[in-house]
Amino acid sequence: MRVAVFSSKPYDRDSLISANAAHGHQLEFFEAALTPQTCGLAEGFEAVCVFVHDQLDEHLLRCLVGEGVRVVALRCAGFNNVDLAAARALGIQVVRVPAYSPHAVAEHAVALMLTLNRHTHRAYNRVREGNFALNGLLGFDMHGKTVGIVGTGRIGAVLARILHGFGCVLLGADLQENPDCLALGMRYVDRDTLLAESDIISLHCPLTPETRHMIDVHSIPRMKRGVMLINTGRGALIDTQAIIAGLKNGHIGALGLDVYEQEEHLFFEDHSNEIIQDDLLERLLTFPNVLVTSHQGFFTREALTAIAETTLGNLARLERGEPCPNAL
Ligand code: NAI
Repeated sequence: MRVAVFSSKPYDRDSLISANAAHGHQLEFFEAALTPQTCGLAEGFEAVCVFVHDQLDEHLLRCLVGEGVRVVALRCAGFNNVDLAAARALGIQVVRVPAYSPHAVAEHAVALMLTLNRHTHRAYNRVREGNFALNGLLGFDMHGKTVGIVGTGRIGAVLARILHGFGCVLLGADLQENPDCLALGMRYVDRDTLLAESDIISLHCPLTPETRHMIDVHSIPRMKRGVMLINTGRGALIDTQAIIAGLKNGHIGALGLDVYEQEEHLFFEDHSNEIIQDDLLERLLTFPNVLVTSHQGFFTREALTAIAETTLGNLARLERGEPCPNAL
């Protein structure tokens, strides 16, 4: 299939070209994001391959149809950036990569927790400057702490397994209980109970109208004072204004973010020579107990290989006219 790959970075190119040896698709790579302005690049391609920040609303989907595109291949799990109803109405097939490495994201969530807890981000800088004092670096044992996992699907379940190894007490909130988590001794509770009882809260549910801003001015006061909050799900699960207020008044003890509400204007690109205009993000970055990473939870060799193989396999199935289990 002829595929226009948008928002492509050198690492995407490497993994897709390598996986394509088994398929023989005609891939063309564009660094540009897919927008109404760049949509013309897709002219004559049957498929576009896009990532998390490409916003495929009805207007853009109509533009794609005009260029002859009939398939959208998401090389990610989340699909909140695609208007699926419009795609269906326009006859565009949308496929995704539902699972590539839940370990990658779960392990990154643990990295954020341990770094914030033991302040290794600060210790690294201190020691390099000859400051060997321990003041301000006091942490806590993970063992025995209560961790609340919101969304106990593929990633949440791997996180539960890792934290079980640490000896944490596990709480879960989900629409359905995961037998693997129950087997680890996880106790399922409603979201309010999870917020109230957890020392650490980690978000692993999809972004939907129901989960949008689940952490807001109403839910923060219900949490334990000093709670650690980790978000590797989607930025808009958290109301950023509210979390800044919670950090300022000390209710939030530590915050680890791999995703951020307005990330599509910044993440994945080098803005180090510019004046960053996002005042909320810049305020977040002033807190010593906040750690932000640039949506890198998925970024392991194993995950990139799996993403490329599944994406190209999805396209091959559609090309052969076979049903695709990863169709949305
Ligand atoms: P999954 O579909 O296996 O699990 C999601 C779980 O959330 C399911 O068990 C579902 O029942 C639950 N859920 C849905 N609505 C809920 C609600 N209102 N309250 C509580 N639970 C709810 O998905 P997976 O693979 O575990 O991924 C989870 C999320 O992680 C994705 O939706 C995506 O947004 C994010 N993600 C982030 C990455 C990163 O690089 N930071 C990479 C991959 C995914």
